[in-house]
Amino acid sequence: MNKAEKQLTEQGIYSYGSNELLKFEKQMEKYFTREYKRWHGNNEPVESYGVSSFHGEIAKKETREVSVDHYDEEYQVYLAFLDNQHMAYTMAYYGATSESSELDDITLEQAQINKYKLLAERADIQDGQTVLDLGCGFGGLSKYLLSTYPNIHVVGINPSEVQTRHIKNQLIATEKSFDASRFKLFTEFFDDIEADTIEDDYFDRVISVGLLEHVSNIDLLQKKISRVLKVNGKCLHHCIVSFDTIPNYLNSENSQMGDYYPGAHIWPFNEPKRHSTYLEYSNSWFINGLNYWKTLDEWHKRFWLAIDQLYPESASLEKVKDWNKYFSLCKTMFSPNNGKSYGNGQYLFIKK
Ligand SMILES: C[S@@+](CC[C@H](N)C(=O)[O-])C[C@H]1O[C@@H](n2cnc3c(N)ncnc32)[C@H](O)[C@@H]1O
Repeated sequence: MNKAEKQLTEQGIYSYGSNELLKFEKQMEKYFTREYKRWHGNNEPVESYGVSSFHGEIAKKETREVSVDHYDEEYQVYLAFLDNQHMAYTMAYYGATSESSELDDITLEQAQINKYKLLAERADIQDGQTVLDLGCGFGGLSKYLLSTYPNIHVVGINPSEVQTRHIKNQLIATEKSFDASRFKLFTEFFDDIEADTIEDDYFDRVISVGLLEHVSNIDLLQKKISRVLKVNGKCLHHCIVSFDTIPNYLNSENSQMGDYYPGAHIWPFNEPKRHSTYLEYSNSWFINGLNYWKTLDEWHKRFWLAIDQLYPESASLEKVKDWNKYFSLCKTMFSPNNGKSYGNGQYLFIKK
């Protein structure tokens, strides 16, 4: 046990893999397992629970700014736990299914690249295209596309100051694997982007990874995407979903999710498919939640491996407590029922 870990344990904050934390995670897993059993097979539309993905603003005005505060947390913390090649802050793809148990065979770095390969394949990315990386985080997908396809052009949109500062300082300024003139970045909410910033029919492809959780009106989002997408252009969304309709997590305010992501939603797998008014729904895939469980477990492990450098300069006692709870809660949300209740959905739409 290093010095920071010892001090934190004395304050009741238990490290990754400790008996106390494992006990807490077991309890949470039991709780989620019970909840999922209760709602197993529930196909009720979200409207039955007073929620709609067809009304209002793209993201609720009252929570829009704070909903992305989480991404402006201390940069050093993200540096410590995310994969060091792309700094992806969404599920890595280990290829896990409920039957497989080969989660330890590949690194987080490789599993993030596997996710990008899968996204590129499903979005039918071709060299020479113009692609929107919508909600681009630290720019991982943009970096992957720009360094894999020599003639691709990418636009990243993301309101987070911390994440876009990383893109400007680390990606645009120093990256040798692609020509930065093929990349454009807007530090803005997509909701505010109009024709004077991005003209109509501009993109061949739009990909969003981890964005729909922040979106309240998916229909309006699709309308906005449709404006900037060329005819026959494709849009691929990737987001966390529950397989059945589980009322408690439809709205973050009803659960501890709201402490981290106010205004967020976890949509049932079938919900995004309903949004065919502006873009035609084409295909979808459910990705087993053990992929996200493993990703979070790796992040959690790396966070604690770096704790001596993080605590207390970059992460106060309160922050360590918050992050620790966050990792444990999220992990135990994905692990029950062998990853079949909570996972990720991918949705392909085409502009006709
Ligand atoms: C879970 S993170 C995923 C980041 C990145 N796509 C990745 O896979 O690492 C969600 C991202 O969406 C961005 N975001 C949230 N609401 C947005 C909006 N309305 N317009 C554009 N970006 C948004 C956040 O700032 C954040 O960068």
